[in-house]
Amino acid sequence: MSEDTYYKDHWVDIEAERLERYEAQFVWGPRGNKLIEPAAISTGQVVADYGCGPGYLSVELAKRVGPDGHVHAFDINADFVERTTRRVADEGLAERVTVTHLTTDMLPLDDDCLDRLVVKNVMVYVDDPLSSFREFRRVVKPGGKVHAVDSDFYMAAFDPIDVDDWRHVLDAGIHAFRTPAIGRKMYGIALGAGFSEVAVEVVAAPDFSGRMLSFIKNTAGYAREGGKYDEEVVERVVDVASRAVEDGTFFALNPQFLVTATV
Ligand SMILES: C[S@@+](CC[C@H](N)C(=O)[O-])C[C@H]1O[C@@H](n2cnc3c(N)ncnc32)[C@H](O)[C@@H]1O
Repeated sequence: MSEDTYYKDHWVDIEAERLERYEAQFVWGPRGNKLIEPAAISTGQVVADYGCGPGYLSVELAKRVGPDGHVHAFDINADFVERTTRRVADEGLAERVTVTHLTTDMLPLDDDCLDRLVVKNVMVYVDDPLSSFREFRRVVKPGGKVHAVDSDFYMAAFDPIDVDDWRHVLDAGIHAFRTPAIGRKMYGIALGAGFSEVAVEVVAAPDFSGRMLSFIKNTAGYAREGGKYDEEVVERVVDVASRAVEDGTFFALNPQFLVTATV
């Protein structure tokens, strides 16, 4: 994988171990409700799930739009497309969801055809967030909404991991993110893309259970793939975090920026 396009390539090709971690990491739970609440998803809507991953959010959206609505799920990873297709079928929702493998940043959708587009924890990876927001605006009807949820990776905080150790791992793995500060940037980007109204909320729920351990392990993996890292520090970060999860002293905060832009 080239360092220049690693942020995208590592989603097109995901190693088996990381793929399994995502299955566990993205399971839908009560926390998710808060993150998509401002999107105001309701029955009968046509909604896109951009960067659907293993499909848990697509299932949730399909339940919310009901039999008269529809969900278009998109991803650049072929395994995720397959898993989402299987997951919606297992839930008896296949007729309500169209799953498409994306190979470009353009959406195979007509202008003004969606009521909502939800893009959760994906904007950090896209080639050009401004042109993606413009593309989202093209496919959403006037009065409809684009709802983007993302982290700002320079704001994630962990304990008892040493602050400088974490900074080393993040810096060494930063090539895995196209726009690591996307959280704080989405407001300006959405305004720049010409939306009529842009609302922002920040949800910061402390994690004591170790949900963020997968993210720490993934970032350690990205650091190792980049080659410019100190193995002792990377190992220490993963060990300290893993032990803290085991003994119940782990603490993490990863604020989620909820940007709801009206067309
Ligand atoms: C962190 S996961 C989030 C998955 C899902 N949205 C969720 O919150 O459960 C990021 C997802 O975005 C997809 N992705 C990354 N870059 C993308 C792009 N340029 N276009 C579409 N999907 C992309 C990845 O394949 C992956 O499924």
